[in-house]
Amino acid sequence: MLKLGENPNPFEKEDTVQSHIATYYQALQEMAAGIASSDRLRDVLSAMVKDTASAMKSSGCSVLLFDPASGQLTHTVSHGLSDWYLRKGFVDADKSLGDTVEGKVVTVLDAATDPRVEYREMAQRQGIASMISVPLRQRDNIVGALRVYTREQRHFSADEIAFLSAVAGLMSLAIENAELRELETMPRTERDDMLSRPDRSRALQDLIKTNSFAHPSEEEFARLLDFYNIRWLYEPRSFTLEWDRDKVKEMFTPDFYLPELDLYVELTTMKQELMREKRRKLRRLQELYPEVNVKLLNKKDYHRLLAKYGYTPLGQPETISVDRILLSTSQIQGRVRQLGKAISRDYAGRSPLLIGILKGVVCFMSDLMRHISLPVSVDFMAISYYGAEEGSVRIMKDLDTSITGLDVIMVEDIVDTGMTLNYVLKHLAQRNPASLEVCTLLDKRVRRLVDLRLKYVGFEVPDEFLVGYGLDHQGKFRNLPFIGVITP
Ligand code: IMP
Ligand code: MG
Repeated sequence: MLKLGENPNPFEKEDTVQSHIATYYQALQEMAAGIASSDRLRDVLSAMVKDTASAMKSSGCSVLLFDPASGQLTHTVSHGLSDWYLRKGFVDADKSLGDTVEGKVVTVLDAATDPRVEYREMAQRQGIASMISVPLRQRDNIVGALRVYTREQRHFSADEIAFLSAVAGLMSLAIENAELRELETMPRTERDDMLSRPDRSRALQDLIKTNSFAHPSEEEFARLLDFYNIRWLYEPRSFTLEWDRDKVKEMFTPDFYLPELDLYVELTTMKQELMREKRRKLRRLQELYPEVNVKLLNKKDYHRLLAKYGYTPLGQPETISVDRILLSTSQIQGRVRQLGKAISRDYAGRSPLLIGILKGVVCFMSDLMRHISLPVSVDFMAISYYGAEEGSVRIMKDLDTSITGLDVIMVEDIVDTGMTLNYVLKHLAQRNPASLEVCTLLDKRVRRLVDLRLKYVGFEVPDEFLVGYGLDHQGKFRNLPFIGVITP
């Protein structure tokens, strides 16, 4: 390892090294000033990548964001790289200089042959000889990578590594600064909601979404996807259909990519001559990239497509309607699968009895039990509320069998004040089960009146009226495949 100020190239004169260092100091100084003066994260980072590329005398520089859910890196703001290179495809964090997301600096001398480079041929066409990748951190997490590309083969010096690490540190600060500013402007409830969710902040999402839609229909489609909580990326990838040596002769960039459905979507107008051209390109794309799932959609089609994937139209004709989706179908399914796994692990070797209270629990129970790999039994109770006093509960249908000596798991859709569950648990405890635990999909903790031990919780939810996935409002909305918020 070289020490700071040490010269990696014995033929380079000492004063040249000194002048590099002066350049780095000046660049860092300007970047730090930029963070304080500019409002938009995208603008701040754009200026920083430009300054970094020029201070390093390199051909390109890019900030990539890491998505732990998909394990992929996405180019966000960059300088000096062609559009087709940036949109060449998803960059798998573990295939592309994988050690960066482990927190290490990675250098590549020859990108054309180094197996740690995922798209070697593309790198060669882009004229990249060497590259260096430095992790971007936020507190304990790696959120992305800062990369610099050079046209000539270069052994990166200790000074260059130190400079890039400092730039990465400033970038992390700029990101954190943008997030804090965003939190400041949010209403309190929204803020708590955001802090309680593991999603990326809006500031980071904005970096990925270019948000300059080419057509109003694209914006409408994006809004529809947002409403359904479906993650999307706008034009993240260009598929090269024909090369002319190192130049792209023809390419196709679908409008959207929906990671959860692994689907590319190209929106169309009804203009026939455009349709024909798009169809031709699409056919070519399918020949060249048979593993890619892509669909050509017009407006009517995309409503139908969303319905097919379970995002049904909100077809409840009442005046009350769903304001926004809190948890999408895929979020719910993912979490239910995890809960099923946890129960299977914790109760290994035993045969628990799952008890649900009708009717709200039907969706959750039927999905959860199919993710438990143990010989479980299932039983249901029905209760009704009576009297003016909150929490006056009467059992309308009791269990079919005895629970004495059994491992019982109470399965609940939502625990709100906790009165219902408290009553039922007391009632069940009297019958001497071997054990008695609770698995609830939703926990509206802010409204809790009775303290209860909830062993398994799917999601903590805010104090709003929720419907869907079994939850009702006056008997309706139970059949929605997602969980939404209504204002009764
Ligand atoms: P608790 O006794 O206050 O905990 O209320 C639990 C029961 O109230 C649940 O089993 C639901 O049936 C109902 N509930 C509580 N919050 C909601 C909601 O947001 N939407 C629909 N039903 C709810
Ligand atoms: Mg219930």
